[in-house]
Amino acid sequence: MSTQSRSTTIYPEPTPFPEGWYFVATRRQLTKDKLIQKTWMGVDIIAWCDQDGGVCVAEAYCPHMGAYLGSDGGGCVSDGRIVCPFHGFEFDVTGQCVATPYADPPRTARLRVFETRDIAGLIFAWWGINGRAPQWALPAGVPEQDGWSDLEVSTTRFPGHPQDTTENSVDLGHLNYVHGYDNAGRAEALSVDGHLLTSRFKFTTNRHIARIATLRFDITADTTVAGLGYSLVVIREKSIGMDLRLWVLATPVDGTLIDMTLASQVREIRKPKRWVVGLGFLPTRMRAPIMNKFMAMQQRSDVQQDVVIWSRLRYQSRPRLCRSDGEIMPFRAYCAQFYPDSSITAESHPARPK
Ligand code: FES
Ligand SMILES: [Fe+2]
Repeated sequence: MSTQSRSTTIYPEPTPFPEGWYFVATRRQLTKDKLIQKTWMGVDIIAWCDQDGGVCVAEAYCPHMGAYLGSDGGGCVSDGRIVCPFHGFEFDVTGQCVATPYADPPRTARLRVFETRDIAGLIFAWWGINGRAPQWALPAGVPEQDGWSDLEVSTTRFPGHPQDTTENSVDLGHLNYVHGYDNAGRAEALSVDGHLLTSRFKFTTNRHIARIATLRFDITADTTVAGLGYSLVVIREKSIGMDLRLWVLATPVDGTLIDMTLASQVREIRKPKRWVVGLGFLPTRMRAPIMNKFMAMQQRSDVQQDVVIWSRLRYQSRPRLCRSDGEIMPFRAYCAQFYPDSSITAESHPARPK
């Protein structure tokens, strides 16, 4: 037995609100609903946009005398401004009070706003520890939208943590066991560059279409994780020749629940490489939206399989891993940067007998 000791980093139970960019709403939803109210990162927020496309995500309480600004409290949007239901103060999308019904607006009356970013019509806001400003940016450049279908968006709420759900992307062991994927394996080594984590893996899977057909998919998936609220999976399905983008967006609600939003889009399928139940008969412009609906249904069902596990999971700070589990510990090392206020403990353990 060796008498040497080795150092093992222990990642303690993550706090509920890791720093990063988190999904708030789609631009389409903002335009349609005018005013959104929700609990996001443990804070009551409102979100709206003005006629010029400016977006505001702000704490939902008026700096004048504290009224709740969501529509439940009587708040409303007029001419691109949020109007407080209590004394009628108006705030523009920068959060500044710009008018009141009876006096000059106090210069100090400003909403607490969260910095926002729009990626392909998905609106994110920055959550900084102790309110600090963004420490890093989401991936630059809006993904090309020409030739891609509209987004299919759905949200599921359950008890969970964004670190556990994001860990799924490196947890190779569960792909076969929970989702029934075949031949799942890493195609390229996981790589970490500051707040970005990228990985590529491959698998095959059978999918059933309404009991009339079974499709075999041969998939390569490139995942970009930018903090625990943003993952983009770019999927190449080889046997049909289909490209799909899937955003997996985990957003803490109140410290217990999270909202898991899936947003997907499929690229126009000009020449399907193989027969997929009538796909070839459809006009080209209809193929991608239909495949997107089908794939979104499959993704929701995959997530439901995970939700059963995630919602009952107890975090293991010292997981007893086997060789084929994938890169769980490198993933946790990457995550540590999103908890700048918590300490990661390095403990020494006597080496176990070989
Ligand atoms: S509390 Fe909002 S205007 Fe007075
Ligand atoms: Fe999963």
